[in-house]
Amino acid sequence: MKLSSTKKAPASASNDFAKLKRNIVHTSTRAEEKLSDRDYEFIRKLIYEETRINLGDRKRELVTARLGKRLRATNCPSLKDYCKGLKMNPKSGELYHLIDAISTNHTFFFREINHFKFLNNHILPEFANGTMGPSKQLKVWSCACSTGEEPYSVAITLSEFFSNHQDKSWRLECSDISTRVLDFASKGIYEKDKITQVPPDWQKRYFQKGEKSMEGYFRVHPNLQKMVNFQRLNLFSASYPWTRKFNIIFCRNVMIYFDRETQEDLVGRLSRHLEPGGYLMIGHAESLAGVKHPYETMKPAIYRLPK
Ligand SMILES: C[S@@+](CC[C@H](N)C(=O)[O-])C[C@H]1O[C@@H](n2cnc3c(N)ncnc32)[C@H](O)[C@@H]1O
Repeated sequence: MKLSSTKKAPASASNDFAKLKRNIVHTSTRAEEKLSDRDYEFIRKLIYEETRINLGDRKRELVTARLGKRLRATNCPSLKDYCKGLKMNPKSGELYHLIDAISTNHTFFFREINHFKFLNNHILPEFANGTMGPSKQLKVWSCACSTGEEPYSVAITLSEFFSNHQDKSWRLECSDISTRVLDFASKGIYEKDKITQVPPDWQKRYFQKGEKSMEGYFRVHPNLQKMVNFQRLNLFSASYPWTRKFNIIFCRNVMIYFDRETQEDLVGRLSRHLEPGGYLMIGHAESLAGVKHPYETMKPAIYRLPK
């Protein structure tokens, strides 16, 4: 099973944190305590600086609940101590785990089906008939891919289409800031009820049914899995690793966590990695209204860079 391509949190992450903890004078032992104003502000700022996720003023309960998991994982006696550890070394490996714990990863197969219909009925025929340019390879990026349902849905759509266009090929890059979801995605194993959105024919073609201890689970077929590359990438890192531009970028249901200035920054960055005439898909609950951007609006949640 392919797991190697994801960049994991450094193995020393928990050790670093354990070392930090030893230096802390414990003043509290109650894990159920409330996050103080100052600590909430600290976490909020740290998360914003690192991921640009804007937690706002009203997420204190959610953050408290999610930090509970980190307290148990690090054996830290209190939220106060946990924050103290991070304050002493905000760039420790624990930051990766904090981001994992805070980020929201909800997703499902063929979510927002209109995008897949548009891909199949408009974009792919346009690529096949050469309107998108002379390249024989379609390049797609799922840039907040979470646990993999989005990119595998894209991969199935591409695989179906390209089986009738064998003179052309496709490449799908997938990234996310969370190492936890990337590990999950690269395993490509889903519970039966997670793949109900996948039409039965495609379930048979693109998934392998688990047996014995894996009964009730389905694994993405290795032939499809090998077409999909996962790697950790913060959308706000200084640069992206791509050497070639994409024809389509899926950036769905992540902008909703960013403020307008950040959304503007992000769609500008993405535009520099799109071919002229390339498409940007955003979530149906998201919009570029009020955001300065270089795209033409094709349909709700579908934008195109002018040619
Ligand atoms: C709600 S999921 C969306 C999954 C999928 N795109 C969909 O629409 O179903 C949002 C994802 O964005 C990721 N994310 C949040 N901030 C990010 C950042 N700064 N860089 C890269 N990924 C980020 C989260 O880790 C999470 O997996």
